[in-house]
Amino acid sequence: MSKKVLITGASGLIGSQLTHLLLQRGYRVAHLGRTKRAGNIPAYVWDIHKQEFETGTLHEVDVIINLAGAGVADKRWTAARKKEILESRTKSAALILKMLQTESHQVTAVVSASAIGYYGFGSAQVFEEEAKPGNDFLATVTRHWEEAIDSLGALNVRVVKLRIGIVLSNKGGALTEMARPVRWFAGSPLGTGKQYLSWIHIDDLCNLFIYAVENAAMHGAYNAVSGQWATNKELTKTIGKVLHRPVWPLPVPGFVLKIILGELAHLVLLGSKVSADKIKQSGFELKHTNLYQTVRNLLAGV
Ligand SMILES: NC(=O)c1ccc[n+]([C@@H]2O[C@H](COP(=O)([O-])OP(=O)(O)OC[C@H]3O[C@@H](n4cnc5c(N)ncnc54)[C@H](OP(=O)(O)O)[C@@H]3O)[C@@H](O)[C@H]2O)c1
Repeated sequence: MSKKVLITGASGLIGSQLTHLLLQRGYRVAHLGRTKRAGNIPAYVWDIHKQEFETGTLHEVDVIINLAGAGVADKRWTAARKKEILESRTKSAALILKMLQTESHQVTAVVSASAIGYYGFGSAQVFEEEAKPGNDFLATVTRHWEEAIDSLGALNVRVVKLRIGIVLSNKGGALTEMARPVRWFAGSPLGTGKQYLSWIHIDDLCNLFIYAVENAAMHGAYNAVSGQWATNKELTKTIGKVLHRPVWPLPVPGFVLKIILGELAHLVLLGSKVSADKIKQSGFELKHTNLYQTVRNLLAGV
């Protein structure tokens, strides 16, 4: 019988695409989320705050892919939102631990999302997996998230954490948001425009998740990035070129973004350079490493 993969937070950007790819490759897939969704995929419900899950969730599951987490860029970072961003990740990991401890199961591996936010911001160095965690809000969240995921290792399951970069997709996320003003002839760099974005094509990311499911030699943290980085200005100009739109040289000033977005503005005004060497050394082949071709593939479908 084919392997069965349970995906948490599967209704989101990555989970939707990953589900599609896993099914194409002959895997059986089940979803675990906050609400029951109608559809062909078996779906189970959990409540991370009550630490409860539906009976049967782990039935025949071989691998768990953990994607659950409140979107970091979806809302202003009020104190309540910051708490939700953190707890949606740590409590999800805690509930996976509880499920594995209390249910009889055949799970051999958990492959979890993490984020390059782990390292903090800055372009003075290229971050490899051994680098120390940063100390800003996102870095602190990611460190706690990874610690919660690491605790699963005590249960004799293989644990892989993919520190995901900025996912480029045409169905949502950073590229969709950046392309919107460009389409409307209002594209300009943000802040200095010099902040580095370490990006990955969504297809490469989903293939990397599947590679981590299949490759028993993978353990611990891996950067999930293309190994190429572009400044905010370069990416905006590339979108303009693909969409045949001008990009205005005058940037949107950082202070304006801080007024509009508050602390969340850090996410668009700061960046980092992150290495893909470790995933390449593990044998994974990235298909999309050219920025122009990646943006063209996603926005122009070629
Ligand atoms: N996209 C990126 O550029 C990127 C970059 C770095 C890291 N990541 C990480 O990768 C993971 C998946 O990313 P994505 O882009 O697919 O995210 P997404 O589209 O926001 O989906 C995340 C899913 O998590 C669940 N969720 C949302 N709020 C929650 C809450 N308060 N408590 C528990 N579950 C909640 C939802 O699934 P249900 O409604 O089905 O429960 C949601 O569909 C996230 O953890 C994200 O932080 C993404």
